Amino acid sequence: MASKRKRLILLLSSCLVLVLLCFSVEAKCRSGCDLALASYYIWEGSNLTYISSIFNQTIPEILRQNPHVPNQDSIHSGTRINIPFSCECLTGDFLGHNFEYLTQGGDTYEKIARIAFANLTNGNWIQVVNIYDPTRLPNSVFINVTVNCSCGDSRVSEDYGLFETYPLRPGENLSSVANASGAPAELLQRFNPGSNFSAGSGIVFVPAKG
Ligand SMILES: *[C@@H]1O[C@H](CO)[C@@H](O)[C@H](O)[C@H]1NC(C)=O
Ligand SMILES: *[C@@H]1O[C@H](CO)[C@@H](O)[C@H](O)[C@H]1NC(C)=O
Ligand SMILES: *[C@@H]1O[C@H](CO)[C@@H](O)[C@H](O)[C@H]1NC(C)=O
Ligand SMILES: *[C@@H]1O[C@H](CO)[C@@H](O)[C@H](O)[C@H]1NC(C)=O
Ligand SMILES: *[C@@H]1O[C@H](CO)[C@@H](O)[C@H](O)[C@H]1NC(C)=O
Ligand SMILES: *[C@@H]1O[C@H](CO)[C@@H](O)[C@H](O)[C@H]1NC(C)=O
Ligand SMILES: *[C@@H]1O[C@H](CO)[C@@H](O)[C@H](O)[C@H]1NC(C)=O
Ligand SMILES: *[C@@H]1O[C@H](CO)[C@@H](O)[C@H](O)[C@H]1NC(C)=O
Repeated sequence: MASKRKRLILLLSSCLVLVLLCFSVEAKCRSGCDLALASYYIWEGSNLTYISSIFNQTIPEILRQNPHVPNQDSIHSGTRINIPFSCECLTGDFLGHNFEYLTQGGDTYEKIARIAFANLTNGNWIQVVNIYDPTRLPNSVFINVTVNCSCGDSRVSEDYGLFETYPLRPGENLSSVANASGAPAELLQRFNPGSNFSAGSGIVFVPAKG
């Protein structure tokens, strides 16, 4: 009898351990959303043909998300354009999208993040999803580039479902970003707890207009 009880206790406690283990590795996301937007800062010398190839998206699809841009020749450096992409739950851990990028001579992870992806990601975040030594990045190979995204947060507000991944630039702050997005500043901060909108770098998630 005693040993049967011991065995039962042992069984129950191992079950408990299993349950605890399950909770500690609980997935942080379950699903993503079909659409998120990347707020791309158009640098001097870039153009829609280039941007569409970086994001594997057609020019008409990009223009559809930018009603203020009448055609592909009227994009201006120093402004931003929204690039649509699908936002997925990656490794059950975070929301993002993996882009494939073909390396060119002189590329580094840092440079790819800053120029080709206009600070929508950073060198470290690219490095963790690639096998190549960052100091010896081969030429003309495909690498992974992860861009984070958001599908909203029902605990903050149910009214917003479409979000821009928005790289902050020097000179911006909470009120200027709020002003540009049309969303109240207080709401923007609650969607991005802990983010410093005056930091001049890093990404935040901003509800998209419309
Ligand atoms: C578009 O931009 C890319 C990258 O800067 C450049 O290599 C290409 O020549 C540009 N194309 C046109 C038509 O300006
Ligand atoms: C690029 O887009 C096409 C068409 O949507 C898709 O079939 C293809 O898998 C995409 N390529 C990559 C690398 O995501
Ligand atoms: C990305 O950030 C770096 C440094 O913060 C800056 O020099 C660069 O111009 C930014 N890239 C774009 C496209 O704005
Ligand atoms: C993307 O999200 C992950 C997980 O929250 C975070 O560790 C990483 O720093 C983020 N990347 C960027 C470029 O902000
Ligand atoms: C890109 O990511 C995939 C999936 O995680 C991985 O199998 C592949 O090796 C990565 N590519 C590089 C160049 O590291
Ligand atoms: C925020 O930025 C705007 C525009 O760059 C500027 O006019 C304003 O003074 C800034 N506000 C604060 C509180 O720094
Ligand atoms: C808010 O936007 C308006 C028009 O877009 C602009 O005139 C004003 O300077 C902006 N204010 C701030 C603080 O950025
Ligand atoms: C936000 O970043 C700016 C620029 O780096 C800095 O001056 C400011 O003190 C930071 N604010 C907070 C609350 O950390």
